[in-house]
Amino acid sequence: AKLLLLHGPNLNMLGTREPEIYGATTLAEIDREARGLCENAGHQLDAFQSNSEGALVDRIQAAGKEGIDFIVINPAAYTHTSVALRDALAAVAIPFIELHLSNPHAREAFRHRSYLSDLARGVICGFGAHSYTLALQAAMHQLASTPD
Ligand code: DQA
Repeated sequence: AKLLLLHGPNLNMLGTREPEIYGATTLAEIDREARGLCENAGHQLDAFQSNSEGALVDRIQAAGKEGIDFIVINPAAYTHTSVALRDALAAVAIPFIELHLSNPHAREAFRHRSYLSDLARGVICGFGAHSYTLALQAAMHQLASTPD
């Protein structure tokens, strides 16, 4: 199957960005690990990061045309603000998992609301870079066990 890993704003700075919250692993390391995990299981993975909401919307719309089977997304700050990302995911109707490195529920109140969670197959948060491994494993399990 074809999986798409999407990273929202400021995640290009992982490794140096608030490491006490987000850890020391870089985005390149996360993508490399993610690709290995998917390819070992016989799947394809494409990864995309943008700081721009419109570019993320465009990538989700393209995923609909490319026949992407599953999306794993860390929407970063757009989690808490973006009706546009929500609408794009709803429009393409590709199943997705929302993930976060940190646990937003243990942080500021403005991080407690997600515009995406109720549309997601599931949400994984709080495990640092390991959140990506858990989310991709869950995605592959969903692909193996759901009829659509
Ligand atoms: C984040 C949590 C968000 O609240 C924050 O804006 C981020 C990263 C995380 O992975 O923990 O940029 O999505």
